[in-house]
Amino acid sequence: MIYLVGSGIGLQPKNIMTRTSSFLNHWASQGMLAAFSSSPDPECPTWLDAEQLVARLMAPIVGARDDEVAMMGSLTANLHYLLATFYRPHEGGGCRTRIIIEEGVFNSDLYAVQSHVAWHGLEPAVEIIPVARNRHDFLSTQAILETIDAHSNTAALLLLSGVQFDTGQLLEIPQITAYARERSILVGWDLAHAVGNVELRLHDWNVDFAVWCSYKYLNAGPGATGGLFLHGKHGTSEVNPRLSGWWGMPVSQRFTLQKQYVPNAGASRFQLSSPSILDITAVTASLVIFEKAGMRAIVEKSIKLTGYLETLLDSLENPGLSAWPLWTIITPRDIKYRGAMLSLRWYEPECLERVVGYLKVRGVLVDVRKPDIMRITPAPLYNTFEEINHFVEELRRAVAEA
Ligand SMILES: Cc1ncc(COP(=O)(O)O)c(C=O)c1O
Repeated sequence: MIYLVGSGIGLQPKNIMTRTSSFLNHWASQGMLAAFSSSPDPECPTWLDAEQLVARLMAPIVGARDDEVAMMGSLTANLHYLLATFYRPHEGGGCRTRIIIEEGVFNSDLYAVQSHVAWHGLEPAVEIIPVARNRHDFLSTQAILETIDAHSNTAALLLLSGVQFDTGQLLEIPQITAYARERSILVGWDLAHAVGNVELRLHDWNVDFAVWCSYKYLNAGPGATGGLFLHGKHGTSEVNPRLSGWWGMPVSQRFTLQKQYVPNAGASRFQLSSPSILDITAVTASLVIFEKAGMRAIVEKSIKLTGYLETLLDSLENPGLSAWPLWTIITPRDIKYRGAMLSLRWYEPECLERVVGYLKVRGVLVDVRKPDIMRITPAPLYNTFEEINHFVEELRRAVAEA
């Protein structure tokens, strides 16, 4: 099968199977003793430092210091924990109550934001300020900066997605972050579609916080442990109020059962519970591949692979249909504004459905965002140029057939 849906669920790395079965065998033979002994597989993390090791592997992928990353929870849950800390609308005289988001924001982020506004007794319809895309589905930096200006005295927070989940547009994270920070607005990023896809330098860009999942470009498996970033400038001071649990304390103090909570330095103070070692083992296995390949090389191939797809799509000829073309590519043409995905908006949703059905029968998987968007994701770690060539050939046939 030609698998072009890595922006939904990434393919399973081969080493996940071997490493997770090593973990399961170790646990099966040792029970709780496995917590204190190294696995016979030197590649497997020990239970008690598993999340530190995985955070170390994660940090370079998002351009962070090791202590600025915590691998925990899931994207939406992590967003809630961070909003609990960073959205404090009643502080400072209650003048900063608004949250700026994008109009096409992923629904889960919207629900999270709405619930925090309501939690503070405020009205989501008043406090949430959406930035609209233009008629080409492009969310312009200019529109975002203008919205920041319009709410520079009332906005508490700017929360945007690094890469848009439907159009694949990559936002200008450093410029937007700097502009908001200069106006004392805190900045958070949803990196679900950016992490492992584009180069990120969260520390240098002075991002306040970020959240992501590990099951898309990071290939760690459905529902795999997600991650969060907390800039070091927050990690050195008390980040309060904050939801706390015993796993946010230094390892040496977790098991003392002391009444006094002592937070870890850095992002790991947001950890609440003991992590699933099975899951962390899978994430670690996948991130080792990123460490070996390096984000720069991954992005270099990605640019070529997606560019190749774009060229082939553009050169497709009308197979004799009365209406042509059948779609428009809504992902920006400029590589500065995109990662490893092209989204096609089809003029006829019914035709899209037939084409996707035909492709599936022919062993080609693409993603559909109903009613009219086809997302094609050439994932550089496992998709090849031959596959892209083959895909476009199959698409040409499918179109003629449909
Ligand atoms: C952009 C974006 N944000 C948030 C989420 C929600 O992620 P989770 O279910 O891990 O909380 C997703 C899931 O696909 C997403 O694509």
